[in-house]
Amino acid sequence: MKQEDLMARLDSYTFYQQVDLGGGLKTPGLPTGPKQRQVLRFIDSLDLKAKRVLDVGCANGLFSFAAEKRGAGEVVAVDHTKNNIDCINDILALHLKSRVRAHHVNMLDMTPEVHGRFDLIVFAGVLYHLRYPFRGLQVIRDLMAPGGYLVLETGIFEDFGHRAVLSTPSPDDSPQKSRGGNACAFFNERGLREALAYFGFRVEQAAVPGQGWKRLVKKALGSLPVAYLPISNAVFLCRYDPDREDRFLREFYEGNPER
Ligand SMILES: C[S@@+](CC[C@H](N)C(=O)[O-])C[C@H]1O[C@@H](n2cnc3c(N)ncnc32)[C@H](O)[C@@H]1O
Repeated sequence: MKQEDLMARLDSYTFYQQVDLGGGLKTPGLPTGPKQRQVLRFIDSLDLKAKRVLDVGCANGLFSFAAEKRGAGEVVAVDHTKNNIDCINDILALHLKSRVRAHHVNMLDMTPEVHGRFDLIVFAGVLYHLRYPFRGLQVIRDLMAPGGYLVLETGIFEDFGHRAVLSTPSPDDSPQKSRGGNACAFFNERGLREALAYFGFRVEQAAVPGQGWKRLVKKALGSLPVAYLPISNAVFLCRYDPDREDRFLREFYEGNPER
């Protein structure tokens, strides 16, 4: 397809991410920012040869195409916004000669019985959009292959507190109203690490990219800046180890699926 025709076809879609189309061309969308670059660094650090990868909340496929380039055997991209799915399947994957296939799915409806298990799950920019964040992490755990990796990026509530916290502001009070008012679930770092441990994930690396000095100011000044700049975007590289899960607690909180 000629460049002008390609760009004209892309005009009918909305873009969150900017995807490199080769030959100096890029889709519309926001330039790749620090949190996405950190997600890409974690993806690049893994050996994905012949592995199954799931990109949850794939938007325009930035991370899916990157995982494929790293040699992944199969990349499944899911998003509940149809615009994103159609754009990947009808235009981007064809243009990039990619085998990435996108599916119009709410991630909360995914099951290992239907979708199988994955060696890498990229779960970026979605957790804080979920009204039921623990349910979201439970779905992710159920889709993990033992020993698989999770790259999680989410907004964390910067209270630097000693208690594990999950803050679930109403849409009107959301610190990220500008993004549609639907950012509604923010763990603090301790709360998120405890939730990940409960679900059998070991955090191997963590980064809060592009926030260095802002974070130091927040930490030094305590609650005052927290009221104004309460959220940082953190990126975690985690490994799933089912043996780390506490079976008693799992049955206590989630019931016994055998019954
Ligand atoms: C903030 S964007 C993040 C996009 C991309 N993962 C990134 O980090 O650059 C959130 C994306 O997740 C999708 N999304 C939000 N909730 C979802 C859900 N429950 N199931 C599937 N996709 C979801 C939205 O449609 C949107 O494309």
